[in-house]
Amino acid sequence: MKKYSEMTKKELLSERESVLKEYERLKAQNYNLDMSRGKPSMDQLGLTESLLHILTNGADCKTEDGIDCRNYGQLFGLKEARELFSDLLEIPADNIILGGNSSLNMMYDTVARAMLYGVPGSDKPWCKLDHVKFLCPSPGYDRHFHICESLGIEMIPVDMTPTGPDMDAVERLASEDESIKGIWCVPKYSNPQGITYSDETVRRFAALKCKAKDFRIFWDNAYAVHDLDDNGDILLNIFALMHGTEYEDRLYYFFSTSKISFPGSGVALLALSDRNLEATKKIIEAQTIGPDKINQLRHVKYFTNAEGIIDHMRLHGMVLKPKFDAVLHTLKTELAPTGIAEWTEPKGGYFISLDVADGTAKETYRLASEAGVKMTKAGATFPYGKDPRDRNLRLAPSFPPLEELSLAIHVICVCAKLAYLNKTLL
Ligand SMILES: Cc1ncc(COP(=O)(O)O)c(C=O)c1O
Repeated sequence: MKKYSEMTKKELLSERESVLKEYERLKAQNYNLDMSRGKPSMDQLGLTESLLHILTNGADCKTEDGIDCRNYGQLFGLKEARELFSDLLEIPADNIILGGNSSLNMMYDTVARAMLYGVPGSDKPWCKLDHVKFLCPSPGYDRHFHICESLGIEMIPVDMTPTGPDMDAVERLASEDESIKGIWCVPKYSNPQGITYSDETVRRFAALKCKAKDFRIFWDNAYAVHDLDDNGDILLNIFALMHGTEYEDRLYYFFSTSKISFPGSGVALLALSDRNLEATKKIIEAQTIGPDKINQLRHVKYFTNAEGIIDHMRLHGMVLKPKFDAVLHTLKTELAPTGIAEWTEPKGGYFISLDVADGTAKETYRLASEAGVKMTKAGATFPYGKDPRDRNLRLAPSFPPLEELSLAIHVICVCAKLAYLNKTLL
């Protein structure tokens, strides 16, 4: 088959006729397929079923040190839980705060605290400044952008490259503008492209020169251990690189077990320097008497150690890999010959990023919605929902069963073709 760009008008018209026919056929099936959010499937949730039964009475809720997890206390979380994640992420346990069930919640709170009180190094709370700006590598995670929007922080998009954010742009912007106070990073299997930052990118972040002395890197390592198989990417440990250096206060490091145990009922983590930790403690003390230790103990008893988590993640990979393969196979067979689209082939994480022809993502999204396939809204992967080239779509293969998934991707491929042909011909 010829690429669309090489077809004559007559050939394109005939192609449109057959694509439209297939689209109408699919639409008539009244599908209801959801590819919108990166949620674990039922099979994945079942992998931690026994986590629900691990604590059955009061005696089970005591730690080795005799702490009764049913009661108040332990502001930064259980010692053994902090040690478990210390072991997994290679971050000192003393620099770890365990929160509630959601790292996104900890991110929001961390930014909100900076707005209300400032951070070590701030002259005043960020909300007292005329402008607060964040660098936003794009495409990126829509909920990071939502935090900024909700707190009135101006977002500056920075292009993503195959090795992470465009570091020349990051260095230039951060070193020039004092009102740039932060950057969002998903350093491993980025959402939505599945890109892992190269060693050079991580080193450049660790040594970033910033005009603002209270600049912060929001390092959201949500997919730290989420490889599809044993051939996963390796990310340099930025905490180890920065710890003990003049820049150590610049890092806020986030992680959670949402996609290890249960999303919404996992354990979330914030790792930070001693100075950041002391400053944060003063505020958290006013906020809470302590987190949910029963859930933390459940996780410690279930996983035991870092190896337990890594072994468990192999099971997740075995469920997810065939789904990623199915999506990539359909894209390759249906879209590659047309030459109108590009996509990423991540080795882990939860997403595949699809770039359709410029100016056709919104229309592809609309056509797919009308054919019963729900996707993340076109544009959502960019600050303010504005994709400058209107081409990026986020595919989330995890939730639907395999048969539904292949069908949904087929619908999306047909919609991407139809959107291109309509734009070119009508
Ligand atoms: C990059 C990223 N960070 C954070 C989250 C949410 O994490 P949590 O469930 O810990 O709030 C997600 C969920 O999709 C994500 O993709």
